Amino acid sequence: MNLPLTKKNILLGVTGGIAAYKSAELVRGLIKKNAVVRVAMTESAARFVTPLTFEVLSQNRVYMDMWEGDPKEIDHVTVAGESDVFIIAPATANTIGKISHGLADNLLTNLFLAFKGPVMICPSMNSNMYLNPAVQENLQILRERNTHLMEPDFGELACGDEGIGRMPDPDNIIQALECLLKKTGELSGKKVMITAGPTREFSDPVRFLSNPSSGKMGYALAEAAVARGAEVTLISGPSQLPKPAGSQVIHTVSADEMNHAVIDHIEGMDIAIMAAAVSDYKPASCQHEKIKKNREKLSMDLELTPDILDGLGKRNNGLFLVGFAAETGDLIENMKDKMLRKNCSLMVGNLVNSSHGGFGSDNNEIVIMGRGNGQVDKLPRMTKRQAAEKIFDRIVEEIKQ
Ligand code: PMT
Repeated sequence: MNLPLTKKNILLGVTGGIAAYKSAELVRGLIKKNAVVRVAMTESAARFVTPLTFEVLSQNRVYMDMWEGDPKEIDHVTVAGESDVFIIAPATANTIGKISHGLADNLLTNLFLAFKGPVMICPSMNSNMYLNPAVQENLQILRERNTHLMEPDFGELACGDEGIGRMPDPDNIIQALECLLKKTGELSGKKVMITAGPTREFSDPVRFLSNPSSGKMGYALAEAAVARGAEVTLISGPSQLPKPAGSQVIHTVSADEMNHAVIDHIEGMDIAIMAAAVSDYKPASCQHEKIKKNREKLSMDLELTPDILDGLGKRNNGLFLVGFAAETGDLIENMKDKMLRKNCSLMVGNLVNSSHGGFGSDNNEIVIMGRGNGQVDKLPRMTKRQAAEKIFDRIVEEIKQ
């Protein structure tokens, strides 16, 4: 069996935290898995564990000084180019701050900027430092750039306090790394279209019908697809979210606009995921001037918008089509009905009138229903990014069958 770490070139960045001693165990574990490990350290890390320890364990030179080494080679460029994955463990608040802002004042941070493959970061520090908004914002920047963050563990910290901030056990890091390597490139060569966010159906220049969708679910799907190597087109209704790195974003406002954008870009797509909350109805006409408040009651004629998902289902051209069902009750029955009626390959359901997640929240509690084998996965509440990963795990599984 071809194991994910066998012969993989792992670049391990070690920064100056007490957990640096665990990185020595990490190197041993990676070598046991037949990986080739090269270590880059900061000077502070070398105060906790000597470079010699890593040199002996990895059987490779340790990279620390920007100004030494073969003058014909630029270390940070060659080493970065030769590595399959870059993991920084432990990652201190200082290094996280630097790499999230593009600063490069040592060999390790230069390597981070020069490296183009998947990166995994294991933050490790005192819990007050970890929870400090500055550190959290820096981590969010990295997350949005598709860096894989492994949450620190909760427990006793070096300072004697108890809290979040411990570097996870090396075995768990290795497992996460194996998982990451398995997924990276899983969708390479695949074209994925995702819709996200709400639509706005204007009745006059200043008023519209809409819903509370933020775009978070769809944008998380786009990030997850990019991380797996897909070419991603994100068609987004109005949203405040930053563009998911590595994707092409097309901004739309109304259901009609979203429908046109989908039709214009659907050719050649392998997978389409319709996570947008598209308004079902729109005002039958849109007034050119603001409607005046000059009567007791006002009624408005509404007409159907195009059903974008239904339109794609009718094309039936080998596209793997994923629909979403936003429900307030009878989730499973409604999902099944929508999946069959709109000819979807997979349906993702969520309740939007509860505390389980849904509109606007960072979290979601989803159900995934397959058409092929009818398998229903009811998942617990998790972040939308985690939910996106679960959806892609299932898509990849179904595509393979
Ligand atoms: O954006 P967030 O704040 O993160 O919230 C996420 C979400 C709740 C919006 C998302 O998880 C979700 O459920 N999206 C689908 C919302 C929806 O419109 O569901 P629906 O059950 O009304 O529609 C079923 C499917 O048909 C959906 O895939 C929808 O995109 C599609 N549809 C609906 C109407 C229409 N005119 N055209 C469509 O394509």
